[in-house]
Amino acid sequence: MAKQEDIFKNVVSHAKEYGFIFPSSEVYDGLSAVYDYAQNGVELKKNIREYWWKSMVQMNDNIVGLDAAILMHPTTWKASGHVDAFNDPLIDNKDSKKRYRADVLVEDFAEKINQKAQKEIEKARARFGDAFNEEEFVTTNARVVEYLSKYKEILSRLAKGMTDDLQDVKALIDELEIADPETGSKNWTDVKQFNLMFGTKLGASADSAMDLYLRPETAQGIFVNFLNVQKSGRMKVPFGIAQTGKAFRNEIVARQFIFRMREFEQMEMQFFVRPGEEMQWYHHWKEARLKWHLSLGLGKENYRFHDHEKLAHYANAAADIEFNFPFGFKELEGIHSRTDFDLKAHEQYSGRKLQYFDPELNENYVPYVVETSVGLDRMFLAVFATSLQEEVLEDGSTRTVLKLPAVLAPTKAAVLPLVKKDGLPDIAKKIIEDLKWDFNVAYDEKDAVGRRYRRQDALGTPFCITVDHQTIEDETVTIRHRDTMKQDRVKISELKDIIENEVSMKNWLMKM
Ligand code: GAP
Repeated sequence: MAKQEDIFKNVVSHAKEYGFIFPSSEVYDGLSAVYDYAQNGVELKKNIREYWWKSMVQMNDNIVGLDAAILMHPTTWKASGHVDAFNDPLIDNKDSKKRYRADVLVEDFAEKINQKAQKEIEKARARFGDAFNEEEFVTTNARVVEYLSKYKEILSRLAKGMTDDLQDVKALIDELEIADPETGSKNWTDVKQFNLMFGTKLGASADSAMDLYLRPETAQGIFVNFLNVQKSGRMKVPFGIAQTGKAFRNEIVARQFIFRMREFEQMEMQFFVRPGEEMQWYHHWKEARLKWHLSLGLGKENYRFHDHEKLAHYANAAADIEFNFPFGFKELEGIHSRTDFDLKAHEQYSGRKLQYFDPELNENYVPYVVETSVGLDRMFLAVFATSLQEEVLEDGSTRTVLKLPAVLAPTKAAVLPLVKKDGLPDIAKKIIEDLKWDFNVAYDEKDAVGRRYRRQDALGTPFCITVDHQTIEDETVTIRHRDTMKQDRVKISELKDIIENEVSMKNWLMKM
């Protein structure tokens, strides 16, 4: 079996080679944790965004959309708590002058111990085969017990240090003798908080310029517009406001490709409810969001909930939907019951009322909010990495195939004339002209048809339509299915329905 690391490297190189994702400004050697979406990536990303939008906004008559500006009045970020509390704990190495996230240094150290335990478990599994009882093994094998208890102890001391006192995190780093991963030096500074927001300036002259921030989340654009939307849309609680857009964070540990970026896109929805009804809606949205993910067919086993025990100051319940990325289970989406914290804070800082008059209760109140927040780039990575597969075929050869959910595929069909003569290219182009009103389709006449199939497999195109000499006689073509490689002979007039049936958002969302 390929190692996790190799699988991930393969994902990154495939994304570049096939025009999905490039490092930003690569001619200048790139910019760390910033990426550009290329010709195929931009289509896949757009399709994921649309799939989300359709299910959240179009399918719910009590949810409407919004596109708030990235730049907001700076007091927004004071009210939201980002100016004072949107921090990462950083530590500098005095010898190498390199800066790290202190919690990540400790987590990585702990993970190495966990990996030792996992290796022992895998060895035992291979040795005992079907008779292996993992539960018993992890509680009785002395080495595994020692590794796992050390692992848990480190993580719990880290969690305590992160909330109580950062000096305890520094003490833990010293005690565990954690070294600079690049140089091996153990000469560390104290741990200090570092704000993650990017600052910028508004205005031409240095004297009058106003300090602004690039938004670190799209949610605040929704909160400050809550009453505008409610009034102009005559919305009745419960109702939601959904938004997709860029967010910016000066992440210090920027790695794992598009998993943690400095400029990324969020798809967020704030659902405004009556105080006291928030838990019911929190559970509703937790289930609804998981169903949305599952509808894409990437495998139920690849998702799990992580309920937060320690809650942020504004939340009374929170959970992550975690996904099994090539580097393990990590957060893909957050569902948070944010109480009335944000609206109340904006009331306080703006001096304006952000209240709703509930005609059924005949009273005014500040609604409570349940938020769903998913990273579009993380969704992209989840879909892309899981879909990229190496298959061994019956004849022993291998093929690389990107088994994207057909609804998200950048190109739905490629039309290929078998040869570049005898009028076949003209028929193929005519088919393209007909189909392109409904689908993104591509024309390809270069190379032998087998190689063209392989190329479309690697791009994730669900269908290849081949025009051959029989087409001239009876207006039929072959249609090849990416995943099964099965080929059917069908009438040109049937193509649209065949493709539609496999790629329509309706059919996919109905699986929810
Ligand atoms: N409004 C709530 C909020 O922003 P969050 O957990 O900080 O919550 C929500 O972010 C989602 O945004 C995450 O679950 C993740 O998918 C995505 N996200 C956060 N930081 C990211 C980053 N640096 N790069 C890519 N995606 C990120």
